[in-house]
Amino acid sequence: MHLSIYAGTFDPITFGHLDVVERALKVFDQVEVTVAVNTAKQTLFSVEERKDLIVRCTEHLERVVVSSFEGLLAEYARRRNATALVRGLRQISDFDYEMRMAFANRRLYADVETVLFPTAEEHAFLTGSLVREIHDWGGDVSSFVPDLVIRALNEKRAIARAGT
Ligand code: COA
Repeated sequence: MHLSIYAGTFDPITFGHLDVVERALKVFDQVEVTVAVNTAKQTLFSVEERKDLIVRCTEHLERVVVSSFEGLLAEYARRRNATALVRGLRQISDFDYEMRMAFANRRLYADVETVLFPTAEEHAFLTGSLVREIHDWGGDVSSFVPDLVIRALNEKRAIARAGT
């Protein structure tokens, strides 16, 4: 059984991430989408909220599991006995960063391979912060994230506005 792990912040999950999950499912028996708990990033959604959004966005896909992890990704991959770490490559500017992570993760856990999937061109510019910013200013994010994510963003915005 070849398990691949797709780690990220997923704040929130976008069509770009889902594209990577679907590509990885073509290659691996199981894809575990895992939310990194301890990144330095200030997130809009809590870990549990991000996991819940991922679960609901992937429920039509078999062989996907959703989790979160703390600490080093390489150590988590070792504990899970994963074959590969999956990442999406959106454009050439991602390459340096992804290569550095791949080298470091391999040094920490030699048995894990990093597999980079070129994303669909239409999602090549997407980031979580871009989605959050466009939504915050009232822009249409329906081509970036599924409807249920838009509803979650709407709720967050309403709470933020009620508090100001
Ligand atoms: N489609 C759309 N957006 C994408 C994307 C894709 N295919 N791939 C990445 N992004 C976006 C993310 O939404 C994110 O946007 P934001 O920064 O504006 O919120 C941005 O690109 C960064 O990518 P992300 O996938 O969130 O990864 P990350 O860089 O935040 O996280 C971890 C990388 C969590 C995998 C890495 O930090 C990690 O492994 N942490 C654990 C600690 C560790 O082991 N450190 C050593 C690593 S060698």
